[in-house]
Amino acid sequence: MKLVGTIVCGLFLLAAVSCGNSVPSAGECEECVNHGTECASDECEDKSNCKGVGSNAVVENIMSRRSIRNYKEKPVERALVEEVMKCGINAPNGQNKQSWEVRIVDDPAFQNEIRAAMAATGNERAAGCFYNAPVWLFIACDKSYDFSTIDCGLLSQNIMLSANALGLGTVCLGSPVRFILTSPDKDKVLSKLGFSDGYELCICIAMGYPNEKPAAKPRDFGKVKFVD
Ligand SMILES: Cc1cc2nc3c(=O)[nH]c(=O)nc-3n(C[C@H](O)[C@H](O)[C@H](O)COP(=O)(O)O)c2cc1C
Repeated sequence: MKLVGTIVCGLFLLAAVSCGNSVPSAGECEECVNHGTECASDECEDKSNCKGVGSNAVVENIMSRRSIRNYKEKPVERALVEEVMKCGINAPNGQNKQSWEVRIVDDPAFQNEIRAAMAATGNERAAGCFYNAPVWLFIACDKSYDFSTIDCGLLSQNIMLSANALGLGTVCLGSPVRFILTSPDKDKVLSKLGFSDGYELCICIAMGYPNEKPAAKPRDFGKVKFVD
């Protein structure tokens, strides 16, 4: 038992030494923390040890997801979108009410209709707000449930993380909600999306094969505090 303990401690120390003076922790080796195994920091000799504390496949997936605003001109197979959606609806949600509805639009003709409706607001950013993504997701929340927007947020995060794990890119989009809800053609678009009575459009997601690899934007760990 003592021998096993010594070996484990030895391996731990080796890992610490190979990554500079100590095992990297949040903020110490930002490359590791932001990019998982893709660490390019000069101070890290053995990059396999430079994943930040507590790293594993889930952590790497979370840390590598970035908003994608440039997509390949390649359709996404519906079976793959369905796989992602299965992950979406397995998100935690209040009282298992599953207080969301999702509409998937991958038909370019309908996308053009929606694009035109958004552009009719006169806002110059409206037409391009889904970027060049081949799949557009519209998520509606249940107006009668006070935690429904939380449910929809968690659903959305599951969608975006599972998409990332399966090689797809996504970006969460609030702007199309505003463009659609203020469009003179709002009713036409919403009736075609066909949400149930009592549901309202709350967030959108663009999805497709990524054609860029943006760096992580800075995060402020100062907003997180232990309170004794
Ligand atoms: C509620 C919400 C609304 C957003 N709306 C937009 C949007 O309209 N257009 C856009 O390009 N990105 C939008 N984003 C993406 C954020 O800009 C992005 O998540 C943030 O800058 C952090 O970057 P990251 O996702 O690459 O980590 C939105 C994200 C959230 C969560």
